[in-house]
Amino acid sequence: MGKFDNGFEGSIALVTGGASGIGRATAQKLAEAGATVIIADRNEALAKASAQEMGVEAAVFDVADPEAWQDVVSGIKARHGGLHLAYLNAGIMTYRAESPGTPRPGFDLAAMPDANYRQIMGANVDGVILGARTCIPLIAESGGGAIVATASAAGVIPFPPDPIYTATKHAVVGFVRSLAPLLEPQGIGCHAILPGVVDTGLLGEGTADKARSLGVPVIAPEEIADAVLGAAQSPKTGGLWLCLAGRPPSRYAFNPVDVLGIPKPE
Ligand SMILES: NC(=O)c1ccc[n+]([C@@H]2O[C@H](COP(=O)([O-])OP(=O)(O)OC[C@H]3O[C@@H](n4cnc5c(N)ncnc54)[C@H](O)[C@@H]3O)[C@@H](O)[C@H]2O)c1
Repeated sequence: MGKFDNGFEGSIALVTGGASGIGRATAQKLAEAGATVIIADRNEALAKASAQEMGVEAAVFDVADPEAWQDVVSGIKARHGGLHLAYLNAGIMTYRAESPGTPRPGFDLAAMPDANYRQIMGANVDGVILGARTCIPLIAESGGGAIVATASAAGVIPFPPDPIYTATKHAVVGFVRSLAPLLEPQGIGCHAILPGVVDTGLLGEGTADKARSLGVPVIAPEEIADAVLGAAQSPKTGGLWLCLAGRPPSRYAFNPVDVLGIPKPE
């Protein structure tokens, strides 16, 4: 029997990147379902405002910081006694618009500053791996639950507008697929969410409207939130939940590759 078979009432859930977009929509749904929710975000003002509006707790930190992870998870254990769901969702693109209304610059690998590279690897890769490392022991001692990470459709397809972003999301997909069987004996499900284009601040000013005008379907963050709750409740671990507009989330499957001695994932 899975931890969330009867819903999320009474469970403790941590949502990174929970101050806005997909994370915020998921935190809201978890809170409505009766979970105690902690949103984690490095944007202090937005995290505090969102937490207050949703009646949840806020933890302000950078998910790339291993020490901050230790402090936050110890604090959750001390205050709430356990943890059941870690939704590792915080993420950025290589060049982010620094303030609302500022257009996002185009991708230019040769001119990419080190700071941008470190920041995206920190948020998108370290944030997931360090988060899983820190949360797994507490989830296990709390009787099991789930790790869910936000990858992207760009975790399984090429996405030339941002090859670094694409690399980070492929990393999340490989991490989740490989970690899932290791966590199963502890009663911890492990899944990745692979959204298409979602209407959030990540896209940059005007991008959602531009996408719509080009006929690219844009998804509401609430639909992705439903997929996150569904993944956490899935009886079969290791799901790569592709979320495309107008379709229910579906499990993406790779072509199997026969490699001597390494078990097939599916
Ligand atoms: N919007 C899309 O089209 C789309 C598509 C596929 C995947 N995703 C992924 O969804 C996830 C959520 O993004 P979103 O679209 O909701 O964007 P968003 O910008 O609305 O939300 C991301 C949140 O993460 C926080 N954050 C970023 N880096 C952080 C860090 N290092 N430490 C702590 N918090 C940090 C930001 O402050 C922000 O509140 C990301 O991983 C993103 O890559 C988004």
